[in-house]
Amino acid sequence: MACKPDSNNPPAKTYPPPTPYQWVQKPFFPPPVIRSDNALTVEGIELGRHLFYDTQLSGDGTQSCASCHNQALAFTDNGRRFSTGITGAIGTKNSMALFNLTWSSRFFWDGRVATLRQQVLLPIEDPIEMHDNLPNVVNKLKNSALYPDMFGKAFGDEEINAERMAKALEQFILSITSTDSKFDRYRINPVLNPLTASEQRGFDLFMREFSPAGSNRPKGADCFHCHGTHLFTVNNFTNNGLDANPATGFQIVTGNPLDRGKFKTPSLRNVALTAPYMHDGRFSTLEEVIDHYNSGLQASPTIDINLKSTGVGLGLTAQDKADLLAFLHTLSDTVYTNNPAYANPFR
Ligand code: HEC
Ligand code: HEC
Repeated sequence: MACKPDSNNPPAKTYPPPTPYQWVQKPFFPPPVIRSDNALTVEGIELGRHLFYDTQLSGDGTQSCASCHNQALAFTDNGRRFSTGITGAIGTKNSMALFNLTWSSRFFWDGRVATLRQQVLLPIEDPIEMHDNLPNVVNKLKNSALYPDMFGKAFGDEEINAERMAKALEQFILSITSTDSKFDRYRINPVLNPLTASEQRGFDLFMREFSPAGSNRPKGADCFHCHGTHLFTVNNFTNNGLDANPATGFQIVTGNPLDRGKFKTPSLRNVALTAPYMHDGRFSTLEEVIDHYNSGLQASPTIDINLKSTGVGLGLTAQDKADLLAFLHTLSDTVYTNNPAYANPFR
């Protein structure tokens, strides 16, 4: 009896340990935030990349994560205001850019998920997104020619389960960085890679505090309080004055009415590629966004205290707006949007 081979449990094939991933530390960026129970490995990231682009993760085999997260557009959804799931149902939120998320600690516009590992499984089962269920997806992967070996290389044996899928997707997403914009080249060597006069004026406006009429300080657009640091987000949740009666936002997480209308402050890196804008995609262009901050801020009980121009406006001229726009364009990074390490492995 003891020696009888059990056909349901063939001897586990073992694999050598995966190769630790070498993080490339770029100037001015903070070190990566390590998820100690899911260290990045070359094989784990490669598996995650395959899963990200694999339409087998959806109920009818037509949709992958990449359907709503297109690398050429900083992994946003092809200019759509709202994404369409496999049944044709339309969501209520604008797809989010994916890069530099190692420095992020809450996910989705309202921050309702605390780890990427939990986050990445949600679209698979969401009825208005990929609309499958995890046991079914795991079965499809078990029966594929590709995945048992890839899971083996990433995790030491060929076991496939939802937790491993989530960890591999987390590793891939954490490996995606955007660090090579014109602005980065300027910061590293301003003499060799200067900004134009307009971009420089836009940068100055971005970094300066609001200066009310009559003040002798130079004019400021006051963007850095929330979109500051080299990441171009301080990774907080704030109410940026979109509505007098704001949507729920971060209150859904904390239950605190003081968090009403607060949303994840997105990084402004690659923002020229990610239209439309805001959690509900209400603005089609960056010009509209700049007009919002210049003269459209809506006061409400939870509007951020840094938006001191509310009611009076920033007083930006047409030239100031053009300069700010020119500066935002310096944050686009085509090294990242063309990086083969993030591209579809099935093509
Ligand atoms: C049908 C379109 C669609 C599909 C498919 C989809 N996403 Fe998304 N994704 C979105 C939308 C819309 C949001 C914002 C949702 C929200 O805030 O409620 C989002 C948000 C995210 C975020 C949060 C980013 C942040 O900064 O907080 C991550 C990470 C993400 N998606 C990864 C994935 C992965 C991994 C998959 C595949 C398993 C996937 N998405 C499939 C549309 C989609
Ligand atoms: C009080 C914090 C705060 C300040 C100050 C601020 N923002 Fe924002 N910004 C946010 C938040 C929060 C969002 C997302 C809001 C939402 O979707 O509900 C956002 C969204 C954006 C977006 C859309 C990004 C996207 O991916 O959809 C752009 C562009 C933007 N801000 C530019 C600016 C500029 C330019 C300034 C200065 C004129 C500025 N912001 C000042 C908090 C701020």
